[in-house]
Amino acid sequence: MRGAVLAVDQGTSGTKALVICPERGVIGTGSAPVRPRHLPGGRVEVDPAELYGSVVAAGRAALADAGPAAGAVAAVGLANQGETVLAWDPDTGDPLTDALVWQDRRAEPLCAELAEYGEELRALTGLPLDPYFAAPKMAWIRRHLTREGVVTTSDAWLVHRLTGEFVTDAATAGRTQLLDLDTVAWSRTALGVFGLGDERLPRVVDADTAVGVTRAFGPPLPLTGLLVDQQAALLAQRVTEPGTAKCTYGTGAFLLAQTGPVPRRGTSGLVSCVAWRLAGRTSYCLDGQVYTAASAVRWLTDLGVLPGGAADLDAVGGSVPDAGGVTFVPALAGLAAPWWRGDLRGSLTGLGLETGPGHLVRALCEGLAAQVAELADAAAAELGGPLDVLRVDGGLTRSALLMQAQADLLQLPVEVSALPDATALGVGAVARLGLDRALTVDDAVPRQKPSAVYEPRIGAAQAAERRERFRTAVRALLAADPA
Ligand code: G3P
Repeated sequence: MRGAVLAVDQGTSGTKALVICPERGVIGTGSAPVRPRHLPGGRVEVDPAELYGSVVAAGRAALADAGPAAGAVAAVGLANQGETVLAWDPDTGDPLTDALVWQDRRAEPLCAELAEYGEELRALTGLPLDPYFAAPKMAWIRRHLTREGVVTTSDAWLVHRLTGEFVTDAATAGRTQLLDLDTVAWSRTALGVFGLGDERLPRVVDADTAVGVTRAFGPPLPLTGLLVDQQAALLAQRVTEPGTAKCTYGTGAFLLAQTGPVPRRGTSGLVSCVAWRLAGRTSYCLDGQVYTAASAVRWLTDLGVLPGGAADLDAVGGSVPDAGGVTFVPALAGLAAPWWRGDLRGSLTGLGLETGPGHLVRALCEGLAAQVAELADAAAAELGGPLDVLRVDGGLTRSALLMQAQADLLQLPVEVSALPDATALGVGAVARLGLDRALTVDDAVPRQKPSAVYEPRIGAAQAAERRERFRTAVRALLAADPA
């Protein structure tokens, strides 16, 4: 056994780690929870120590789970949540602030203030002006919390803690709104707009860079793979050619479509960004976001609708034949692409005295699926032709109810990844590429048959009617609160 890797996926609600062996696949797993705090005013924070602690705990647990075979691990890969930021001391590595999680909306007024630069920033960076991205939150930290140290995305801090190096991968940098999309270098113009012109920024590196050595997991191991989580899942799903797309159902749901070596700045409202830079070559993608997927399920769980959490989706939703006329726009942290109204809140309509937990669960699944279907349509319009399939991964793909709703509303087959931990697999593949320069992407990313394929079970007319009902509910939200 040669060239096994430890792949760590540091996500919003937890960290997962896999020991991946090229011949035998996953031979060890570990995980550790992370508990972001949801505060009034759309604030979402997490203790950075909890992020780092979860990386170490999950990584060590995966190595322990692999047993003696862990001795074959030759490198580490790290995937990170994209737009979560903090200030920290580059001399000591100590955090100077809590981490502001990507869902945090506190930079809304700052974005409103910079609205006149919105089009310029979109042309330059591929991203619309929205507090979801890192730069508005970085600027907010500088204005309101501290001017000390450096302010970066969480990956740069984690990598510094792990190896002492000060770097970020090109795809994470592409989520800041500070990266020039064409040159893949920090943009002086964008930095100036956000008042971040004097910042010391991490070096932008290829995903498959040998960054440094970490001893955080026991034996010294080189860190040879760094990639933002959604793009890591895109790679694991082998979405390497223009025309295909994947959706990961995690804390949020993210649909990404590959566009190849040239960025595509479209008109659909999707984000244009770096998919990855490997061995000096950049691939680009389009990205659409549903800010709350598993976190909407968690919300229903906390209300007592789903006693056993996500594992109960099918049992509770399956207790009734349909949503009973209930429509749920699960925009519990606002609407992202293609509407870009992060300030809006969700809505539940069509409630009656007969409405029960099953109806709410079905309405949630249909609401999530309808949002993803809007993103898939936008991607198809940009790519100039319909998608022929949607590849999916993430914890919520275990729900047959949700996946069937997705296939129905998309009117496309939905292929579920055999391994729900696609993000870790993707960054594991990157770590292998960083370890062995002779490998190709094709060699490094294992081919897998989907674990399930959901075909549409309703006709086009019924799907169109359901999607129109969802769009009407979104239009009502937009009309009630015009931008
Ligand atoms: O853009 C946010 C994304 O990186 C978070 O992913 O897996 O934590 O929902 P996840």
